[in-house]
Amino acid sequence: MNILVTGGAGYIGSHTCIAAFAAGHEITVLDNLSNSSPEALRRVGKIAGKVPRLVVGDIGDRSVVKSLLDSEKFDAVIHFAGYKAVGESVSKPWEYYVNNISGTLVLLDEMRRHGLYNLIFSSSATVYGNPLPENLPLKESAPLAALNPYGQTKLWLEDVMRAMSAADPAWHILLLRYFNPVGAHESGLIGEDPAGIPNNLMPYITQVAVGRLKELTIFGDDWPTPDGTCIRDYIHVCDLAEGHVAALAKVAELPGCTPINLGSGSGVSVAQLVASFEKATGRPLPHKIGPRRAGDAAACYADASRALELLGWKTKRDSDAMCRDAWRWQSMNPKGYK
Ligand code: NAD
Ligand code: WQD
Repeated sequence: MNILVTGGAGYIGSHTCIAAFAAGHEITVLDNLSNSSPEALRRVGKIAGKVPRLVVGDIGDRSVVKSLLDSEKFDAVIHFAGYKAVGESVSKPWEYYVNNISGTLVLLDEMRRHGLYNLIFSSSATVYGNPLPENLPLKESAPLAALNPYGQTKLWLEDVMRAMSAADPAWHILLLRYFNPVGAHESGLIGEDPAGIPNNLMPYITQVAVGRLKELTIFGDDWPTPDGTCIRDYIHVCDLAEGHVAALAKVAELPGCTPINLGSGSGVSVAQLVASFEKATGRPLPHKIGPRRAGDAAACYADASRALELLGWKTKRDSDAMCRDAWRWQSMNPKGYK
């Protein structure tokens, strides 16, 4: 298939380019490089033997999207482009609404004007809000809630896509709800390269391990979980990338708008992830226990059965592989792509 990948230079997008090339797809990346480096795509080329075509532009710029879709026929769009930091979305809600919502509306409108109806959308487990324990593991039918502007953009775009596909049966949309993507390609050439001090656990851990940060603070050890630390569903980014390839294979057969969890289906605690990381590096990770972080849930993990049923996909890599690969990327690239 000939695929348009918005945000394809980013963390998940660059890994997905490798998996999509391996499956024989052709790729054009549309990315404004607001949170990524073209170096990531050069390195995709080193790994895959092929560099994706890069169009530097904004999904919200109608002239760019229109001329791209006028000039080339695509079979499907994988739409990663967007801002993704929860905390930043609270301080800059307008930027999140404009970039994620307005940008996506332009993309969707140009897609339908060009008769391009196959879409794979990066949604997030954030649409489940703060899950109640009785709803775990989370099925796609669990109640939805947005707790911050970032989460609102994902939930609102899901609603837009549900309404559009209810009104027009031509659409085939897969709403992929990612849980906690971590890790890196096993080559160590590409990985997560957050700007500034990371908010997410794994990049914080790797930056402590490489000496860029002093120590990890574990946000609370008094949660109602077996070891007192929070539980999440971490998913290796290469498993996630392969999930997109599985979605590409099925999108044309799945009419309407279908939410699908992409997670491992099992929960891992912060303390367990730190222990896996220490095993991967062979040395202790400086850490201390701090207070709970506002807004955190005690536990959040997927029921991953729909992905297996509809896409024939499930995760293959465990937390040891996630930690080993995250560490290889960080130790080979202590300053990321810089
Ligand atoms: P990322 O920031 O690494 O990648 C996003 C890419 O989109 C970047 O290359 C950025 O330059 C580009 N971009 C942003 N706005 C754009 C615009 N208006 N036009 C063109 N390009 C634009 O993020 P990621 O971790 O790879 O996440 C990809 C998608 O997955 C996002 O939509 C994110 O919300 C979603 N997601 C991520 C996670 C996670 O933890 N990483 C979890 C759930 C969902
Ligand atoms: C994981 C666990 C923290 C940092 C976020 C978004 C979600 C999705 C994935 C985009 C939690 C603990 C963290 C630290 C810690 N992204 N932690 N010390 O909050 O589960 O999900 O990323 O869609 O929408 O909300 O991920 O990596 O921030 O935290 O103890 O320095 O690690 O309390 O239990 P989270 P996270």
